[in-house]
Amino acid sequence: MQIHVYENAQQVGQAAAMLFAAQVIRKPDSVLGLATGSSPIGCYQQLISWHQDGALDFSQCVSYNLDEYVGLPEEHECSYHAFMQEQLFNGINMKETHVPNGNAADLQAECLRYDAAIQAAGGIDMQLLGIGRNGHIGFNEPSDHFVYGTQIVELTESTIQANRRFFESENDVPRKAISLGIGGIMNAKEVVLIAMGADKAQAIHDTVYGDVNPQVQASILRTHPHVTMLLDKAAASLL
Ligand code: GLP
Repeated sequence: MQIHVYENAQQVGQAAAMLFAAQVIRKPDSVLGLATGSSPIGCYQQLISWHQDGALDFSQCVSYNLDEYVGLPEEHECSYHAFMQEQLFNGINMKETHVPNGNAADLQAECLRYDAAIQAAGGIDMQLLGIGRNGHIGFNEPSDHFVYGTQIVELTESTIQANRRFFESENDVPRKAISLGIGGIMNAKEVVLIAMGADKAQAIHDTVYGDVNPQVQASILRTHPHVTMLLDKAAASLL
C-alpha cells in the first residue's frame, strides 16, 4: 500500500484525477470503478476540466459505480444516479455508465446481475474509493465478516447520520443500500482510496495499523497488491 499525504483536500482530488487520467491514457478502454460522496468531487471536476480542454477522452471507457440507495427514485437529487450525472457524467463522454439499480423489483437478482456485468466487461481496472467514518468502503458496513458479492445492506446509524446532510430530514435518509461487495472491490486491478478531513483520521489509522478486521472493512485493502491512498493532512493526522 502506498500512502501519499497532501497539504489540502484540493490536492488530494488533483492527485486522484492524475491517476485516473493516466489509467485512461494508458488503456483507453478502461473499466473504471467510481464512487460517490463528497470526497471524489474534486477529482471529478479535474477530470471534466481535462476532458473539456481536449486532453482526456473517455469515449471507450466504461464505468461501474460502487453503490446506490435502495428505494430512492433515480431522479431524486440525492440518488447516486443523479449525483454521478451531475458531478461527472454530464461533463465527460463516457461510453457506458452503470450504477446499481436500487429500485429493482428483485434486488437479489440485481446483485447477481451487477457482479456478472462487471465480470463480462473484463473486471474493474481502477477503483476509486472514499471511506466512511466507521471504515466502510462502498456501503460495506462494519460486520463480523466480509461479504464477497454485491449485497443489500442495512446502513448503520453512523452512516445515516453522516449522509443526513444531503437530505431534508433524517427520516428521508434511506435505511438500505445496494453495494458492491468486498470481493468486487478486491478484484479491481488497482485501488485508489481518497480521504480528507479529521473525521476520517481514525478510520484511516485503523485501516493502516489495525488488524485486517471486518469491523473496519477498509482494512482488507492491506491484502490488495496495488492500493494507493491519497490523504490530506487532517485525514493522515493519526498516522
Ligand atoms: C457513502 C458512500 C461511500 C463514501 C462515503 C464517504 O457512505 N457510500 O462510498 O465513501 O459515503 O462519503 P464522503 O466522501 O462524503 O465522506
